[in-house]
Amino acid sequence: MTSSPSSTLPYRIGYGEDAHRLEAGRPLILGGVPVPQAEAGAVAHSDGDAVLHAVADALLSGLALGDIGQYFPDTDATWQGLDSRLILTRALELVQGRGYAPVNVALVVTLDRPKLGPLRPQIARSVAALLTLPESEVGVSFKTSEGLAPAHVQTRVTVLLGRVDG
Ligand code: C5P
Ligand code: MG
Repeated sequence: MTSSPSSTLPYRIGYGEDAHRLEAGRPLILGGVPVPQAEAGAVAHSDGDAVLHAVADALLSGLALGDIGQYFPDTDATWQGLDSRLILTRALELVQGRGYAPVNVALVVTLDRPKLGPLRPQIARSVAALLTLPESEVGVSFKTSEGLAPAHVQTRVTVLLGRVDG
């Protein structure tokens, strides 16, 4: 398990990414929200939620705690079909254990189809709830790949972590 020296910085930035290949007939889940219009879903060991994986990695990276693969190895059958909300909750606990909490999050999902705009409030609300943040502190943007990666979903996330007093 990764350990890092303790930090006293008031703020730390974290960054995470995740991508999954899409295949027809699989569910697509983003930020804990099923995407009903999706014709294809993520090929993955867990439930393939590229948003929650990237947010979890952003949290861990902010404190130099490594990445989710160290805590949930994809070689371990225990994590087959794992609900990614558990991954994010574990990453949050690790951050809180170091005396930090997320302040705000900015995430970008790149997906050609379907349009995700209508799900923006639901995804923001879901990610915010998992991080125990107000919805207003979770920015959610969508981009297409302009046809360059039609069978692909990608998420990029920055998070600001703030030191909790006390
Ligand atoms: O990638 P592009 O800039 O062409 O996307 C145009 C707009 O379409 C984005 O700003 C976003 O609001 C929306 N979009 C979406 N769902 C996607 C991709 C893009 O709602 N899957
Ligand atoms: Mg993933």
